[in-house]
Amino acid sequence: MPENKINLPESEIPRQWYNIQADMPNPMKPPLNPATNQPISPDDLASVFPMNLIEQEVATDRFIDIPEEVLDKLLLWRPTPLVRAFALERYLDTPAKIYYKDESISPAGSHKPNTAIAQAYYNKIFGIKRLTTETGAGQWGSALSLGCNLFGLECKVYMVRVSYDQKPYRRILMNMWGGNCVASPSEETSFGRKLLEDDPDCPGSLGIAIGEAVEDAVNSQDTRYTLGSVLNHVMLHQTIIGLEAQKQFDSIGEYPDVVIGCVGGGSNFAGIAFPFLRDKIHGKDVEVLAVEPKACPTLTRAPFGYDFGDTAQTTPLLPMFSLGHNYMPPPIHAGGLRYHGAAPLVSKVVADGLVQAKSYDQLQTYESGVTWARVQGMVVAPETTHAVAAVIEEAKKAREEGKEKNILFNLSGHGLMDLSGYEAYLGGRLTDYSLPEEEIEKSLELISKYPKP
Ligand SMILES: Cc1ncc(COP(=O)(O)O)c(C=O)c1O
Repeated sequence: MPENKINLPESEIPRQWYNIQADMPNPMKPPLNPATNQPISPDDLASVFPMNLIEQEVATDRFIDIPEEVLDKLLLWRPTPLVRAFALERYLDTPAKIYYKDESISPAGSHKPNTAIAQAYYNKIFGIKRLTTETGAGQWGSALSLGCNLFGLECKVYMVRVSYDQKPYRRILMNMWGGNCVASPSEETSFGRKLLEDDPDCPGSLGIAIGEAVEDAVNSQDTRYTLGSVLNHVMLHQTIIGLEAQKQFDSIGEYPDVVIGCVGGGSNFAGIAFPFLRDKIHGKDVEVLAVEPKACPTLTRAPFGYDFGDTAQTTPLLPMFSLGHNYMPPPIHAGGLRYHGAAPLVSKVVADGLVQAKSYDQLQTYESGVTWARVQGMVVAPETTHAVAAVIEEAKKAREEGKEKNILFNLSGHGLMDLSGYEAYLGGRLTDYSLPEEEIEKSLELISKYPKP
């Protein structure tokens, strides 16, 4: 009988992260200083990030060693199993084999601690005492609270207002690990106060929360900012997922035909996909799919250009697909996918045609999440339901074509703290949001002011 779980022994945990920049067919364009439109220098970022992470951000080495202290913490739950979804295969009556990396087993319940722990470590050894960040659904805020707790740092989290109200248990989890969480926009920064003055009921967005967390970091002593996605070093730290999966597939003599991940900022997708994209760049036949919500269709409908990473325009200009830094996504329940841009590295592999992007409506993703729960047992995060929707579609396609193919996806998190969204779905109170064409035109107009990558 084939095994449900393909486990990797702890002694086999990857000891290096993979940097896709070393293999990219076309080099990345640099982030620009918005005042001069010239590439930023490492020193421009020094008040925001510690220099050791800035060095990682610009590194082009193919592999980067994972420090022992980081491995020691990752081993609290890693390696994560590669699991075969036999029940879903039978339910769909598909010849496809469906595999997933189970990132939901981390202490915070998602892939986010993979980078939270690394970032807390690098800040700690650089002498930083306190970290600030933003969070959407609360997964990243809780992961960073965990990371800070493990390395003895203070943690301040600006949580998007709409999620702060929808997801109180994530806040409590942050408090459990000693993190301090406030709703964004908040009264604690001048940017937040200004927004609240204009609209006291502002639902917030990731772009706004980033603006607040950056302002706090640059105005406080021994404090730096951290980002849970988007930046190159975050993609790098997440590649442990795909690197483990490669070893696990090797151990059973298989290889995936399709690799799937959902995309908010892009980090869990990059984590599972980049090591396989390396093989694809070097000739391997593997299809890679990035999946996003129709309400925030960054990769599928937005233009590729330079834009700010945040609404307050405090970040450098980044080369990425962007709906415009002012874009306020509708309050869909997949809070972690409500980001106006996508990681420059993920944007680049999509723009270069190495990855296909797809978008799904909220109702279809929830339907897929409910199917998964009823067939496979687990309740996955609303973000993850996007990947599940694509997996179900691929498996049905394989059935129609009579093709035996291996489908791999990243199960980026569990949804046990996101039950209010499922409750709304089961009660028939969820709707789809489709983005009017005028919104896309607005983002094109906004981005047209900045240089072209
Ligand atoms: C479970 C889960 N999956 C996916 C995402 C999207 O983020 P990213 O695209 O960086 O993986 C989030 C973000 O909070 C998340 O919590």
